[in-house]
Amino acid sequence: MRIFNFAAGPCTLPLEVLEAARDELVDFHGAGMSLIEMSHRSAAYEEVHEGALAAARRVAAAPDDFDVLFVQGGATLQFSMVPMNLLASGGSGAHALTGAWSRKALADGRMHGNATVAWDGADIDPSRTPESAELVLASDTRYLHICSNETIGGVRYPAWPSVPVPLVVDMSSEYLSRPIPWDRVDLVYGGVQKNLGPAGMAVVYVRRSLLGHPPEVGSYLRYDQHAGADSLFNTPPVFTVWMTGKVLAWIEEQGGADWLEAMAATRAGLLYGTIDASEGFYRSPVETAHRSHANVVFRLPSPELEAAFLDAASRRGLSGLEGHRSVGGVRASIYAAMPLEGVEDLADLMTTFAGSHR
Ligand SMILES: Cc1ncc(COP(=O)(O)O)c(C=O)c1O
Repeated sequence: MRIFNFAAGPCTLPLEVLEAARDELVDFHGAGMSLIEMSHRSAAYEEVHEGALAAARRVAAAPDDFDVLFVQGGATLQFSMVPMNLLASGGSGAHALTGAWSRKALADGRMHGNATVAWDGADIDPSRTPESAELVLASDTRYLHICSNETIGGVRYPAWPSVPVPLVVDMSSEYLSRPIPWDRVDLVYGGVQKNLGPAGMAVVYVRRSLLGHPPEVGSYLRYDQHAGADSLFNTPPVFTVWMTGKVLAWIEEQGGADWLEAMAATRAGLLYGTIDASEGFYRSPVETAHRSHANVVFRLPSPELEAAFLDAASRRGLSGLEGHRSVGGVRASIYAAMPLEGVEDLADLMTTFAGSHR
């Protein structure tokens, strides 16, 4: 039996994609070997690789003056690569602190250049994101780094900040499920292991005009190296690229970015609606307008009830609902491949559980 997996990442992937990968895994299209055994310079792999890059560009509607890169090291490596590359010719990166992930980006950013705090939500997991007018930018600010959706706190920017500097956005947990304002961003990145595929790499969209001042760092850490080699600068994470290409193709079949966005809102609306209808039994720590469409975080009246709820969920085939270990509570991560039935089942459990434990 396939369960509904609400884990925050790695996370659920489309069943069709898993089955297709299983069917192709051992003998790739009659080659007599697996794709993951082949040279990454082979024609077969190059077709998969170029197809995945092209799909990543199409689904995001990324304009021609942006490069699309596949880089190993996950989103975490981008916490370092961004300042290394974008501050190579000086200036500082401003960081809005809306939760654990934006704090980690600041901590790493400080290792590689000047980093300032544009806004600090004070709590580790604040209940909202900043208004644009609250953001403080130093005069040499090169970019504002934001995490558009905090995976742990479940906080999301309802609209992109409007600031006089370019945005750098960590979109990991809502990757490609909201339109990107390409005229206002310089760089967007995210690990693929939530909406787009299995773990193993980040997809980075970077404005090409920024790559003219390569930093003096190891070659793998330079965006221009990846861009100049079509992300085949060294041996790529073949399995992850292959699977991500398949998930992107699946997303396009479903309806592309519009579908991703609409489905995310529908799934989230079902769960927040259930929370709000529970007369206080379930409580969201996030202000209504700032609630994540990808990670629905909520509390029950006591830790004992939370444990009982998680237990009931797991017995029903709803897994991965524990809140992040740093905060506890419940967190439903409802990424691209989570079927609506899974969310309906969770909402149903929430309603019946509240009814019998009130
Ligand atoms: C918003 C956000 N940024 C960064 C990361 C780190 O990603 P990775 O594990 O790919 O380095 C995560 C991981 O969950 C995340 O949710």
